[in-house]
Amino acid sequence: MAYLTVADGVKEFSTFQALGGVSISVERGEFFTLLGPSGCGKTTLLRAIAGFNDLTSGSITLDGQNLRSIPPHKRDIGMVFQDYAVFPHLSVFDNVAFGLKPRKVPAGEVKTRVAEALSAVHLSALAERLPAAMSGGQQQRIGLARAMVINPRLLLMDEPLSNLDAKLRIELREEIRDIQKRVDIATIYVTHDQEEALAISDRICVMSAGHIEQIGTPQQIYGNPQTLFVANFVGTLNTLPEGAGLNALLSGLGLSQPSAAHWTVRPERLALGVAGEKGGAGIAALPGRIGKYTYLGREAHVQVETDAGLVVVQIANPGTEAARQPGEAVTVLVERAALMAFDADGKRLPLEG
Ligand SMILES: Nc1ncnc2c1ncn2[C@@H]1O[C@H](COP(=O)(O)OP(=O)(O)O)[C@@H](O)[C@H]1O
Ligand SMILES: [Mg+2]
Repeated sequence: MAYLTVADGVKEFSTFQALGGVSISVERGEFFTLLGPSGCGKTTLLRAIAGFNDLTSGSITLDGQNLRSIPPHKRDIGMVFQDYAVFPHLSVFDNVAFGLKPRKVPAGEVKTRVAEALSAVHLSALAERLPAAMSGGQQQRIGLARAMVINPRLLLMDEPLSNLDAKLRIELREEIRDIQKRVDIATIYVTHDQEEALAISDRICVMSAGHIEQIGTPQQIYGNPQTLFVANFVGTLNTLPEGAGLNALLSGLGLSQPSAAHWTVRPERLALGVAGEKGGAGIAALPGRIGKYTYLGREAHVQVETDAGLVVVQIANPGTEAARQPGEAVTVLVERAALMAFDADGKRLPLEG
């Protein structure tokens, strides 16, 4: 049995169902992320595990123990929130020690445990400071130390980086990942940021409207999405409109799938060739004309109007080459294996034909 399990978790707020029967299992030491758009139920699930609001039905077990029968303060779960929740009039040390207050830990042990927690988040040198003078990133590290000082059985983090600017967010997410691996505490992390989820997680659970779309490693989620929702939410996607152009492309690649309702391909899986270029085994050539060209430094996005619709081709390392000009004739090369088909309900279909 997994370390933490939620089985058939349902949460209703009067008539509104926020969780429609979700099941997850998290292993010891695992970094497990709930990813999904705002309002999909991530916080509701996290709060149910922490015990702040009970499920309407379903079970939650931690290390074999039924959590739903245990009050929140006895669950031994550490929690980090989006707003830092630090006390401005208390020193960094006292802020972290606050987590131990209800536990009646002897003063000597408080000292060692707070020192350990501060060292883990690299704040030892600032123990006597007041948080007011500290950056958002440092304040969030206080929050992390306070959650860890109780030696929790589980660490829950609800969008801990969303109040930080982009650069700090990347720095701190790397740090959180390193700290988590070092302290080896199973962690459930909530974010709506797909890149953050890919960067930080052992596994990701993608949620939408109170249900689970897919659970897998970052590679499985990005590289092998099982639903159209996951493919769209994590990464970007070209959706090819139905029509003669699409049919010609599919038959050129030997694909015939009547049950497929959506054909898609990721921009980085397309390549740009010269006008008149021919395809090859398992590669189709789509003649087209350049539309918009967007240079982003480490990559460029090139819109191409083809017979199979408007597609974006992502070019890695565009270097110092001049921009491609609108109207220029080109060929878009489509690899068979790059195409992803989904049925009318958005469920991924294997390629056949
Ligand atoms: N206390 C509550 N009462 C009524 N509806 C709520 C309550 N808490 C959350 N919800 C609703 O449940 C849904 C999921 O909310 P939440 O779990 O906070 O989403 P997320 O964290 O993914 O943004 C939202 O539609 C939200 O409005
Ligand atoms: Mg939330």
